[in-house]
Amino acid sequence: MDRIRIVGGQKLNGTIPISGAKNATLPLMIASLLTQDTLILENVPRLADVVLLQRILGNHGVDVMIAGKRRESEPNTGRTIHLSAANIVDTTAPYDLVSQMRASFWVIAPLVARMGQARVSMPGGCAIGTRPVDLLIMALSDLGADIEIEAGYVIARAKNGLRGGKVVFPKVTVGGTHTAIMAASLARGTTEIENAAREPEVVDLADCLNKMGAKITGAGTARIVIEGVDKLNGARHSVLPDRIETGTYAMAVAMTGGDVLLQNARPELLQAAFDIIGRTGATVTPTNEGVRVARNGGDIQPVDVSTAPFPGFPTDLQAQLMALTSRANGTSHITETIFENRFMHVQELARLGARIRLNGDTATIEGVSRLRGAPVMATDLRASVSLVIAALAAEGETTVNRVYHLDRGFEKLEAKLGACGAQIERLSV
Ligand code: EPZ
Repeated sequence: MDRIRIVGGQKLNGTIPISGAKNATLPLMIASLLTQDTLILENVPRLADVVLLQRILGNHGVDVMIAGKRRESEPNTGRTIHLSAANIVDTTAPYDLVSQMRASFWVIAPLVARMGQARVSMPGGCAIGTRPVDLLIMALSDLGADIEIEAGYVIARAKNGLRGGKVVFPKVTVGGTHTAIMAASLARGTTEIENAAREPEVVDLADCLNKMGAKITGAGTARIVIEGVDKLNGARHSVLPDRIETGTYAMAVAMTGGDVLLQNARPELLQAAFDIIGRTGATVTPTNEGVRVARNGGDIQPVDVSTAPFPGFPTDLQAQLMALTSRANGTSHITETIFENRFMHVQELARLGARIRLNGDTATIEGVSRLRGAPVMATDLRASVSLVIAALAAEGETTVNRVYHLDRGFEKLEAKLGACGAQIERLSV
């Protein structure tokens, strides 16, 4: 299994190109199931999750074609992929595939909307317990699907097609909103979604579906209205830049010091995070090419932050902020309001010398003046990258194990950081 070796202490200086967003790419790829025509996605990042979803879609009969290298193509732009679901040959998404990636559960919406039935494994473990899909099921049921749960599978049926309805989410859910939008696009009549997720990835999905002939208004607000259509067409769509990758590298620069242009980053996609990064002492400057983040001298300042749905501070940047504040000049508090147990990075950061106490959903981080390298590993994507950030500022050598977590969501991480002066390398075993 690969590991990443980092020798800390270097400032970051240079340019980091921001890739297409993982969390937009996944629902966009899934949306290809809604049409028999070809959906062309541009700026697709090279990530393990994208490859896994290609396999899952392939199992339903989707042909995925990835364009080869082009003479004119720039090395830093994402790939173009063609997805064609002309014939859906299987409406079952099996456990061994769905259990590897929660987002693949979302195939249930286009399958039932287009084919009148879907049988999709619950995404791992006791899914109606701690990582539930109850709100996704609620949305499908509000649109007229009959739902049965049998032997770990959710079976959704709508023999005569789905019908528009009112979906009121009791809690903001990104996956629930994606699911409801996709299902409602091919339902008969009008659907209203209330308390919809306002995340930029929801807007990107709605924009793409509208190019495919859907009639969606209000994406990006808490009330989305969808007038169902009989059929969707193919389209060409470019994936929006990854705001979590952007925020992650911004925090890396705030941590090490230096000056980096985050090329293609769109500041409006993460205003809350940039405000916080500014409060820690870095400067954040939007430019024509992206966003410049710098910290030249001065301490890292402590901050108090709660995660929240968009436009609040994203849970997907919580671990990275914890790494950054571990070296602040004072005590920070970070409250996680979205997921119950998203603090797996705390004990690994402690191995590098961070002083963090947990009390329920709040972490108290007492800044220390130095971190020291150590072997670490993490159990999820954002936790892993928080260890990379801490390691970049730690004295000596850190090895990050279980690199496959990073490969799920960060394209060319070592190359991007290495080009800005980090001492970082992948050790392949
Ligand atoms: C998306 O997950 C993202 N994944 C997550 O990113 C992100 O952390 C999360 O949204 C919140 O922003 C993708 O886009 C692929 P939710 P999702 O439904 O849609 C509860 C990463 O690192 N809930 O918005 O699965 C749920 O338990 C990943 O890239 C229910 O109670 O998240 C959570 O507490 C990790 N019932 C809250 O809602 C449901 O049926 C928000 O979850 C569904 C969710």
